[in-house]
Amino acid sequence: MERVLEVNNLKVEFMLKKKSIPAVEDISFHLDKGKTLCIVGESGCGKSVTATSIMRLYDSSIARITEGSILFDQKDLAKCTDKEIREICGKDISMIFQEPMTSLNPVYTIGQQMIEMIRSHQKISKKEAFDYAVQMLEKVKIPEPEKRMKDYPHQFSGGMRQRVMIAMALSCKPKILICDEPTTALDVTVQKQILNLIDDLKESMGTSEILITHDMGVVAEMADDTLVMYAGKVVEYNNADEIFRNPQHPYTRGLLKSIPHINDSVEMLPTIEGTVPTIVNMPKGCRFADRCPSCTQKCKEQDSPLFDVNGGKVRCWLYEKDAK
Ligand SMILES: Nc1ncnc2c1ncn2[C@@H]1O[C@H](COP(=O)(O)OP(=O)(O)O)[C@@H](O)[C@H]1O
Ligand SMILES: [Mg+2]
Repeated sequence: MERVLEVNNLKVEFMLKKKSIPAVEDISFHLDKGKTLCIVGESGCGKSVTATSIMRLYDSSIARITEGSILFDQKDLAKCTDKEIREICGKDISMIFQEPMTSLNPVYTIGQQMIEMIRSHQKISKKEAFDYAVQMLEKVKIPEPEKRMKDYPHQFSGGMRQRVMIAMALSCKPKILICDEPTTALDVTVQKQILNLIDDLKESMGTSEILITHDMGVVAEMADDTLVMYAGKVVEYNNADEIFRNPQHPYTRGLLKSIPHINDSVEMLPTIEGTVPTIVNMPKGCRFADRCPSCTQKCKEQDSPLFDVNGGKVRCWLYEKDAK
């Protein structure tokens, strides 16, 4: 198994009101060639901070990596210069966001934007770039791609715009594709089409994927490995089979209970009561303690380290004896 990315003990801090505050910490995971790693957790758990730190796409006026390493292609991305990062990221690592409108320029046609992007990575003529762009739009199943090259972003539906983003992200044949809630803004049927499309293309191009979602239903369909994050830390990490068949962390169990079932006609209510603590207000003990059905006095006082459980990692005192 070829390892394409390895993140070790990553910590990203934000400078807020002249104080450096950790947004995510002690984040470790790896991604193997051709595999999909899902990062899952509720809103505010640090998924986007983790993903954007790989490509350094965070707001660098306040954020910086203060610990850890991001190993890719024998380099540590955490130590590269901004210029090196920009070269690697357009070519070998691409990212797709929840709202494609924010990454597209409203005043240029899709064709102009695709051609410019393609030519910034490949020394080819405008005509060749045009043909390649049309080919990519065809790959993401946009009807009449040649005609649509002349359209502006607002002339596409949300789902079609996300297809354009996928076409752009894959046009440089990246080794890693990072998708941050790519279908959250789309309705359920379009969501499924887009996820399947990403999966098919990923497979045919041998790309590895980091897929970020708050939806365990998406994880169930897509993941090889799963990293569960809560309040800026990893709480459980294992292959998807183990996570679904044998979830260990009380937070993972709570998330699994919130998967809507196919026959449910009504929207499921979240089953974990309470909210994720914010980075300026982290409890000193386990960050999940006040929402946890298994919470003890120790949990309130001291956060758990990660324990080795069933071939994976779990951050919960319930597993303390297993570690010894
Ligand atoms: N620009 C910012 N300024 C201050 N806090 C931020 C900023 N961006 C993210 N955060 C905080 O960092 C934490 C992690 O956020 P994020 O990675 O966006 O979560 P997720 O993607 O899992 O919803 C949250 O507590 C969020 O409020
Ligand atoms: Mg996010």
